[in-house]
Amino acid sequence: MICLIFVLLISTVVSSSIYRPVVLMHGISSTAAGMEELAGWIRTSFLGIYVISVEIGNGKEDSFLLPIDKQVEQFCEIVYSDEHLRQGFNIVGYSQGSIIVRGAIERCSLPVYNLITLSGIHQGIFGIPYLLQLPEEFRELITKYAYENPVQNAISAANYWRDPNQLNRYISDCHFLPDINNERGIPNQIYRQNMIKLNAFVMTYSDIDQVVTPKESGLFMGYQPNSFNIETWNNSRQFKEDLIGLRTLWEQGKLFTFTSHVRHQDVTHAPNKDFIMKNILPFFNNTLS
Ligand SMILES: *[C@@H]1O[C@H](CO)[C@@H](O)[C@H](O)[C@H]1NC(C)=O
Ligand SMILES: *[C@@H]1O[C@H](CO)[C@@H](O)[C@H](O)[C@H]1NC(C)=O
Repeated sequence: MICLIFVLLISTVVSSSIYRPVVLMHGISSTAAGMEELAGWIRTSFLGIYVISVEIGNGKEDSFLLPIDKQVEQFCEIVYSDEHLRQGFNIVGYSQGSIIVRGAIERCSLPVYNLITLSGIHQGIFGIPYLLQLPEEFRELITKYAYENPVQNAISAANYWRDPNQLNRYISDCHFLPDINNERGIPNQIYRQNMIKLNAFVMTYSDIDQVVTPKESGLFMGYQPNSFNIETWNNSRQFKEDLIGLRTLWEQGKLFTFTSHVRHQDVTHAPNKDFIMKNILPFFNNTLS
């Protein structure tokens, strides 16, 4: 009997201090292994924490061949089928992974506590540097025909190609980003509610990023219409109309931004370790109740 009580006591103590699991999503032309270094830092810092780096399909090719709508669907299925994640988790998306995880939160109402995006692409990308991560034959398809249906259905990067000279076409014909950014018609209130209920939304960008253009997309800022000037955040439609709840999160003190100083390809690796340990690790220091 005493033994049983003891076991119960111990399991209560242990279960009451279980760190929230962490789910990681990698970027384009990469695989789940690309996030393992970061996973290791988290595991060493929070003993017993469950960290999983998600792979969609075969990883590298599917990351650029599968439309993001499909990638989000598969991401949600993987998360739903993992019993460790039932009670909630923190989530990290790097680069293309930033909009996969945000899309998954908005569309699948995942039980996410803190959403962290590292050098994300929240206002899309436009320009050649990012496309250099793709096989050459894809570049011209995107630069010339991004908003044509067959390209939208065939290359993930077309789903967040935001051409400041064709913003109308972007909004009407780009399959993914304008939808999860609530830029089309009446804003989807479920998307918005799912963002507002986060405990924290953390965004980073690197001031020397040469892959994501504009690099400020990491902080949810994009090009102004018909221009290569960056829109200020509080002048953007996203902020003014609070389309997905960013302004609300800001007003509630739940929006955090950080500037790193690292090459895009090093964001989840050793050259960025100090930045991550100092600024990002605290957002994993929370437990399931
Ligand atoms: C987590 O938070 C606790 C309490 O504030 C603190 O003592 C501990 O050092 C933190 N752990 C890490 C790895 O930051
Ligand atoms: C808008 O943002 C800019 C730059 O961050 C800042 O200087 C300005 O004061 C802000 N304006 C308002 C009305 O908050």
